[in-house]
Amino acid sequence: MPTLNLVPVTSDDYRRLAERALPRFLFDYVDGGAYREVTLDRNTADFNRVSPRQRVMRDVSAVSTAGTLAGTGCALPLALAPVGMGGMLAPRAEVQAKRAADDAGVPFTLSTVSICSMEEVAAVSDRPFWFQLYMLRDRGVVQELLTRAWGLGVRTLVFTVDLAVVGERYRDVRNGIAGGVGRWGRLRAGPLSYLAHPGWLRRVAIGGKPHTFGNLVAYVPAATNPTEYRDWVGRQFDPSVTWADIEWLRGLWAGTLIIKGVLSTEDARAAARVGADAVVVSNHGGRQLDGVPSTISVLPRIAEGVAGQTKVLLDGGVRSGLDVFRARALGAEGVLIGRPWAYAVAARGQAGVAGLLGTLRREMEVAMALCGVTSLADITPGLVTVAD
Ligand code: GLV
Repeated sequence: MPTLNLVPVTSDDYRRLAERALPRFLFDYVDGGAYREVTLDRNTADFNRVSPRQRVMRDVSAVSTAGTLAGTGCALPLALAPVGMGGMLAPRAEVQAKRAADDAGVPFTLSTVSICSMEEVAAVSDRPFWFQLYMLRDRGVVQELLTRAWGLGVRTLVFTVDLAVVGERYRDVRNGIAGGVGRWGRLRAGPLSYLAHPGWLRRVAIGGKPHTFGNLVAYVPAATNPTEYRDWVGRQFDPSVTWADIEWLRGLWAGTLIIKGVLSTEDARAAARVGADAVVVSNHGGRQLDGVPSTISVLPRIAEGVAGQTKVLLDGGVRSGLDVFRARALGAEGVLIGRPWAYAVAARGQAGVAGLLGTLRREMEVAMALCGVTSLADITPGLVTVAD
């Protein structure tokens, strides 16, 4: 296990550094999952049950990881997933991550509940980004957000469908940022926790201001801490949403529509029926319903079930370029990574995300070369075996 003063290389390295850099409640907010975190663990563990089949003596002098992801050209079949409250992890974290994603040639997805606004992120470069949205009770706000995003050049909407209610994440409850916590809980997540991290206090809490939900300042009076975020989520997220609402949304959004958060073939088919261009097989990074299967384990069945109807992406548990290769072999067009970029930006800012993306790319190139293939189209199910 590398020590913390070595150069970080892998997602795990950045995770360790993020743990040191962040106040406990913020690290736990990113790192944690629902209930006993069974699904969180399965997501990563089940990737290891997928073994690449090494092949030798083929010409692999020109390996290319380039392709498209839900219609967006990319250097690697991977996008940065939406991460709420990113700007609490590093100063203007979403801007830093967008810069790194641009340089690496992969899409960046901005969360509805980001700290940096879509306008601030759009100002980084002309390279479009993806925008993530939940169904809010106030449909007028949904329409306004979509109009704003479209005006800024966003053409890919990632619509999250697995947050009808917010899963219970006990680390957040214990840290006092969720559930019915009293004054002491709130204090632990506030001043006491900050004081133990003067570096974070200086760099992020002071240097990274303002800490509002950039996209929502017109609607949420103040949103500077996770408790207020949870309260807002509770008030605004609409648990009565059905596929009929997605049809309404489809009618509003002329760009690419990605539905994120399906775990069954039936739901993936329903998303295809209402016009989704792609679905993301996702259990919300193990943050919603604990105990559900890992995403990589259900991927092959779903990909087969909707073949020719909609594209299939995956998130949850992707920690390496080898995992991207595995997901691709089992039927995903590509993947989204959430925690890895959050750890990297918390640990080292833009350079961290750039370093991580470089590692993922190299790992994928090595996986392809040692399985004897040179393009994404060659990555087929026959290149992996799955343990029972
Ligand atoms: C919100 O989507 C979260 O997972 O915290």
